[in-house]
Amino acid sequence: WNPEQPLGKFFPPMRNDLILRAARGEETERAPVWVMRQAGRYLPGKYCPHKFRAVRAEHDFFEICRTPSLACEITLQPIRRYLGLVDAAIIFSDILVVPQAMGMEVLMNPAPFFPAPLNTPADIVRLREHVDVHKELGYVFAAITRTRHGLRGEVPLIGFCGAPWTLFSYMIEGGGSKTLQKAKTWLFKYPQESKALLARIADICVDFLVGQVDAGAQLLQVFDSWAGELSPHDFTEFALPPLQHIVISVRARLAENHLPAVPLILFAKGANAPSSLATAAATGFDVLGLDWCVVPEDVRTAAPRRALQGNLDPTRLYGGREAIENGVRHMCAAFRVGGRPPKGWIANLGHGITPGVDPDDLKWFFECVHKYSASGVMP
Ligand code: CP3
Repeated sequence: WNPEQPLGKFFPPMRNDLILRAARGEETERAPVWVMRQAGRYLPGKYCPHKFRAVRAEHDFFEICRTPSLACEITLQPIRRYLGLVDAAIIFSDILVVPQAMGMEVLMNPAPFFPAPLNTPADIVRLREHVDVHKELGYVFAAITRTRHGLRGEVPLIGFCGAPWTLFSYMIEGGGSKTLQKAKTWLFKYPQESKALLARIADICVDFLVGQVDAGAQLLQVFDSWAGELSPHDFTEFALPPLQHIVISVRARLAENHLPAVPLILFAKGANAPSSLATAAATGFDVLGLDWCVVPEDVRTAAPRRALQGNLDPTRLYGGREAIENGVRHMCAAFRVGGRPPKGWIANLGHGITPGVDPDDLKWFFECVHKYSASGVMP
C-alpha cells in the first residue's frame, strides 16, 4: 500500500453541514465559521508541531503541497485543535500551483518568487501548450481525497484556486508587488494578449476546480486577492469575464460528469465599488466573500439574494479579547437583519489570518461567533 495513493471515494456521512446550508442562502441556527488561511500559517511549529522541523528541513513549501499525507495532516490540524468550533476545512495548497502546472518555476523563499516571469507576450510561448491537470496537479486531488477520509465527516472540505487576474499578476510581476505596475501595463499595452492569457488561465482553473470536486471537495473558493487593484471599469473588462467563464463552465462540467453541484465562493478582495459587487454577483457565484472595508448592508443593496462571507479585519485578532468580542458582536449585528437567525451568512475574517496571532485568540473569535450569531441572541 502506497500512502500517497488516493483512497476510494466513498466518504463518511457528514455530521456538520452548516456551511453548505448557509452557502445555499438558507437560515442557520448560528453562522458557520472558518478563517481563510487557517491551515499552517499561525499555528505553532507552523505546519505540524511534531513533524515540522524534520519535514521542513528536508522539504520546501511546494514539496509539502505535493505530498498528500503532509498536506492532509496540515489541513486537519486546525480542525482537531478547534473541534466543534470551526465549520469547514480548506485543503493545504497554494494558488501558485496553477502557474507551476502551466510550466512556470515558482519558489517560496519565504514569499513567492518566479525566476523567469512573463515580461512581454512573446514569453507566452514558454508556457505549456496543453495542461493536463490530472498529470500536473493530481497531487492536490490525492490530498483532497485523503483529507475527506481524514475528516471523517466532521466538517465539509473547501477546494480552491486563484482567480485568473490574481494569477496573471503573479506570473507577470514574478512575485508580490505594491503597485502591480507590470501586470497593469500588460492590460493597457497588450489588452488582447492579456485577455487571451486570462482566458487560458481560466480554462485551467475550470479543469482544476472540477477535478477537486471529483476528488471530494464540497465547496470551491476562488481567491481574487488583487481584484481591488483594478478600477471598477477595468475589473469589469479584464477580471470578470474569466470569472464568469469559470462559473458557467464549472457548473456545466459538474452536471455533465454527474458530480455534486457544489457552492462556489468568490473572494474578490477590494472589489467593493457597488458596480463591482453587482457585476461580481451577476457572474453567478453563490457566495461573495467580503473584506473588512465594506458594509454588509451596502452589499445586500448592490447584490441582493447572494450569500455572504466575512468580514472581520484580521488585524483585530491582535487586539486582545475585548477587541475581538466587540468586533464579532458588531459583525454579527451587521450581517443579521434585526433579531432574525443568520441567513446565508458564513462568518470569516476579511482576509487570511496573519502569522503571529495567538491560537487561543482565534479560539476566542470562534467562540464569540458561536455566541453572538446564535438564533435568538440579539448581538
Ligand atoms: O488555510 C490555508 O492556509 C490553506 C492553504 C492556502 C495557502 N495559500 C497556504 C500557504 C491558501 C488558501 C493560500 C492562498 C493564497 N496563496 C493566496 C490567496 C489568499 C490571500 O491571502 O490573498 C495568495 C495570494 C497566495 C500566494 C502566497 N503563498 C503568498 C503571497 C505567500 C507568502 C506569504 C504568506 O505566508 O502568505 C504564500 C505562502 C503560503 N501559502 C504559506 C502558506 C501556509 C506560507 C509558506 C511558508 O511560510 O512556508
